[in-house]
Amino acid sequence: MIQIEGVVKRFGANTVLDGVDLRIAPGEVVSILGASGSGKSTLIRCINGLEKLDGGAISVDGHRVDDPRALQLARRCCGTVFQLFNLYPHMTALQNITLAPVEVLKVPRRQAEEEARELLAAVGLLERADAYPAQLSGGQRQRVGICRALAMKPRYLLLDEVTSALDPEMTAEVLAILAKLAGSGTTMLFVTHEIEFARHISSRIVFLDQGRLLADLPTSRFFAAHGGLAQPRIAQFLSKMSKS
Ligand SMILES: Nc1ncnc2c1ncn2[C@@H]1O[C@H](COP(=O)(O)OP(=O)(O)OP(=O)(O)O)[C@@H](O)[C@H]1O
Ligand SMILES: [Mg+2]
Repeated sequence: MIQIEGVVKRFGANTVLDGVDLRIAPGEVVSILGASGSGKSTLIRCINGLEKLDGGAISVDGHRVDDPRALQLARRCCGTVFQLFNLYPHMTALQNITLAPVEVLKVPRRQAEEEARELLAAVGLLERADAYPAQLSGGQRQRVGICRALAMKPRYLLLDEVTSALDPEMTAEVLAILAKLAGSGTTMLFVTHEIEFARHISSRIVFLDQGRLLADLPTSRFFAAHGGLAQPRIAQFLSKMSKS
């Protein structure tokens, strides 16, 4: 379980997360929606212990991310993929995927490579195992990035706008992989501007507005009520997104 309780994060005078409470249980697929600047990426960074909290607490399977001794254990539970494919440019796809399992988990290299090939096959890239990132398309790089996160066998997969730098065709190929993962029971926390896709794969939708969690609802209820008539901000967001 990822437990986020009363989290406050400020940058100077700017309160970016303002008392956020959220729980992600194993098996859930939760999408975070919200306008640009609402705090979505900051929340993901806080779960990874990349930002110091100004209030509240976050724990992953009981490991507090603000406790330096527990942070490594918390991070071990989470695989993260960001918008910009941050693969190591001097390593092949296969080497990018096997690096952490071999170095951190001490998986024997042969076994790590076998598992990496299975992951690459699952995303349709087995024949590109020995390609360097510069030789791959954006969509292919992002699929390798997803394999790299999965190679650590994380309990939770955190995805921050993994398709926003991709053209529509590449977006579709990456979303297809994510839909497959969601369908196979991978726990996912998914930041996205792909509203229709979020609706399709999520069990719950969370809506952030200026650092506040305005809604946390089962997907069908979120969309049925446009977040509820009491939430004009959400209705406004959804109608703007559907026009863009
Ligand atoms: N390192 C930083 N220093 C100062 N301000 C920051 C920093 N990181 C983020 N912010 C500010 O925090 C707010 C939330 O940013 P964040 O990146 O979490 O938004 P977001 O919801 O992910 O937006 P987008 O949809 O554009 O990715 C913004 O106002 C941003 O300018
Ligand atoms: Mg962001």
